[in-house]
Amino acid sequence: MIQPHGGTLVSRELSNADIEHWLKKRERYPVVTISDRTFSDLYCIATGVFSPLTGFLTEADYHSVLTDMRLCNGLVWSIPITLSIEPEQRDAIASSDYVFLQRKDQSILGVVEVESIYQADQQKEAQSIYRTTDPNHPGVRSLLQQSSLYLGGSIWLWRRPQLDPFTNYHLTPSYTRNYFQEQQWNTIVGFQTRNPVHRAHEYIQKVALETVDALFLHPLVGETKADDIPAEVRMKSYETILEHYYPTERVLLGVFPAAMRYAGPREAIFHAIARKNYGCTHFIVGRDHAGVGNYYGTYDSQHIFKEISSDDLGIKPLFFEHSFYCRRCMGMASYKTCPHSDEDHVILSGTKVRQMLTAGEVPPPEFSRPEVIRVLIDGLAKG
Ligand code: ADX
Repeated sequence: MIQPHGGTLVSRELSNADIEHWLKKRERYPVVTISDRTFSDLYCIATGVFSPLTGFLTEADYHSVLTDMRLCNGLVWSIPITLSIEPEQRDAIASSDYVFLQRKDQSILGVVEVESIYQADQQKEAQSIYRTTDPNHPGVRSLLQQSSLYLGGSIWLWRRPQLDPFTNYHLTPSYTRNYFQEQQWNTIVGFQTRNPVHRAHEYIQKVALETVDALFLHPLVGETKADDIPAEVRMKSYETILEHYYPTERVLLGVFPAAMRYAGPREAIFHAIARKNYGCTHFIVGRDHAGVGNYYGTYDSQHIFKEISSDDLGIKPLFFEHSFYCRRCMGMASYKTCPHSDEDHVILSGTKVRQMLTAGEVPPPEFSRPEVIRVLIDGLAKG
């Protein structure tokens, strides 16, 4: 079994006895209200998805991640996981050892130890992580919308509230690691996605599966930008395609609870490390992985892996070129394997597919399985 990043799978969920203990001190500590996005980070830290992180980044780690793509201890880490706090709360927090975290409905979610309160450099953060400071970039926009005062420190998760309708698919890294072992799968390829499954996805997943024991389909269900297809519809597309086209005994479907950053190359590394924590040995990186608009080159998310040694990363990236259906080849192919011109290729952007569906047009079966198209049309009808 592959080692978690940093060697230990982090687990920071409080037992009932611990919660009782904290409840008694409820009046003593300041409370910070966090967004769904920050909650998904808290949940990922607590359940080991973000191992070796045990909390939100302190100032030293924050700058080290921005500048060197590593934590101060030298481990590769590409996305800053931070907790933004309001300036009015600074004094109360600075004079306390711990802070409670609550959701908007005032339910307590967790505790943070106050280790580091600092002024973030959001311009530097945007440039190093997103390679742009353009506020139209969805990741930069989310970053700039929050206060630049950050609180770093170890966390404990109070309890797991129901975040979304995917309860049965919230498989934690400790669960998947056990499951992979029980199934006697030695090599498992992880697949990240924020879109409904189409045939190019299916193609690269199955080409990868030809060389490993199993496939871990891991759609992201944390916060995405408003015009991405809702997670419920995306999950339904996966349930449907699995039923009709996949060898279910070699495939596991689970959800990735993190928020989407759209940070392209930096996020590809982050996605790979998280999947290593789930026990995957391989990770698929295709065209414009985690990209948005024209902010990144088609293969920038693959090139960044050259900056890290395979020992430092641990998980093995599997790179795929732009894939499509080719009418002359009469099958799925990619620019690497197909000699024909784009006139023979069925290539549709996500935007184009949405436009077609809205106009009542059905994308061709060379692009998407008809069963999946039906799910998308139903999803669109429900709004
Ligand atoms: S992502 O933001 O999660 O990367 P998406 O769900 O579209 O977006 O992609 C999931 C994975 O499939 C990524 O690794 C991406 O690079 C890859 N991918 C998507 N479409 C293609 C394609 N046509 N050819 C090759 N790889 C693709």
